Amino acid sequence: MDKLRISGGRPLQGEVSVSGAKNAALPIMCAALLTSRSLALTNVPRLMDISTMTKLLAQMGVAVERSSDKMSLCAQGIKDPTASYDLVKTMRASVLVLGPLLARCGRAKVSLPGGCAIGLRPVDQHVKGLQAMGATITIEHGYMHAAAERLQGARIVMDLVTVTGTENLMMAAALAEGTTLLENAAREPEVVDLAKCLIAMGAKIEGAGSDVIRIEGVRSLGGASHRVMPDRIETGTYLAAAAAAGGRVRLTGAAPDTLDACLEKLREAGARIAVQHGSIEIEMAQRPAAVSVRTAPYPGFATDMQAQFMALATVANGTALITETIFENRFMHALELQRLGADISIQGNTAVVKGVERLQGATVMATDLRASAGLVIAGLVAEGQTVIDRIYHLDRGYEALEKKFAALGARVERIQ
Ligand code: EPU
Repeated sequence: MDKLRISGGRPLQGEVSVSGAKNAALPIMCAALLTSRSLALTNVPRLMDISTMTKLLAQMGVAVERSSDKMSLCAQGIKDPTASYDLVKTMRASVLVLGPLLARCGRAKVSLPGGCAIGLRPVDQHVKGLQAMGATITIEHGYMHAAAERLQGARIVMDLVTVTGTENLMMAAALAEGTTLLENAAREPEVVDLAKCLIAMGAKIEGAGSDVIRIEGVRSLGGASHRVMPDRIETGTYLAAAAAAGGRVRLTGAAPDTLDACLEKLREAGARIAVQHGSIEIEMAQRPAAVSVRTAPYPGFATDMQAQFMALATVANGTALITETIFENRFMHALELQRLGADISIQGNTAVVKGVERLQGATVMATDLRASAGLVIAGLVAEGQTVIDRIYHLDRGYEALEKKFAALGARVERIQ
């Protein structure tokens, strides 16, 4: 199994370009299920999660072609509206096929995702919303069996803010009869990007990006072309790495306006940040100052950036409080960071991180995608060698990670 070997202690210097956003590309690929016409995408990242989604859609009879960052999907006929446990267990985002399949085929069979390393992650809000639109959903042998003649528009007030829940219901409502109001909707930029793609396909959607989304259902949707938005979490990860290791890094092909909370915290840590249309430059000339963060739904500080900021805090000057409010078990990286010499104590959903002068390289284990990114950052600032085991987690969500870090002068290599 592949591992990542990092020789730390060098500042980062150079330029890298940001890839398309995984968490926008995944729901947008599922939107192809809503139409018999072709959906042409660009800026699709080359990631394991994208391959998994391709496999899942192909099993249902969707024709998927891809070359470089382009992808075309055509769901002319859907032969089997089923998402099996085998694929859903490897990627929870598979649940995003539920709404589109139900809207297009009138039925769907989707495996329950089960728990995962970062928490329980139930899908009750997806189910509740579809039921409000008239679907009957039963759970048998670990599968959700959903059926509906034609979904009906409804007013749905979500109990909590859920990103894929909002996306699933928005896609289902696009083909429902009548108007759907999604209240307490997620405001994440990925929801907005999906809405843009659906609108290009002929959907009538207003308010995406706010907490009330209004969708007027249409009979059918057509084909469209869409460019996937830049990955704000990948962008934030390279910025946090530069803040921790020091140096000067420019990221191109980015969407700075989706990173306000993250940029604000990096400035608080002492980084100089210059933003231009589509690019962000960070310069860090001194040891970072400790900054506390509290995760929250967008536009708050992203839970997907929490591990990277914990890594930054381990070498900062002072004590930082890192509070996780979205997932109940997203501190697995703290134990691994301690193996590198970090001073962290966990009190409930807060990690108290006392910055140390330096970390020391060791072998550590990746537990989930963003935890792995935090460990890479820690490895870059640690003295000596750090080996990260189970890096398949990183391949799920970071395109060409070692090449991009190498372009910044870091010594990061994949070993067997
Ligand atoms: N929740 C429920 N019931 C539901 C849905 C969610 O209780 O029906 C809870 C979850 O358990 C969690 C909270 O609501 O405590 C928020 O979860 P959300 O549904 O927003 O998460 P998600 O849609 O499953 C997406 C991203 C995650 C990211 C979260 C939060 C995708 C494919 N995934 O997950 O990304 O952490 O939103 O922003 O968009 C990652 O990329 O590494 C990743 C985990």
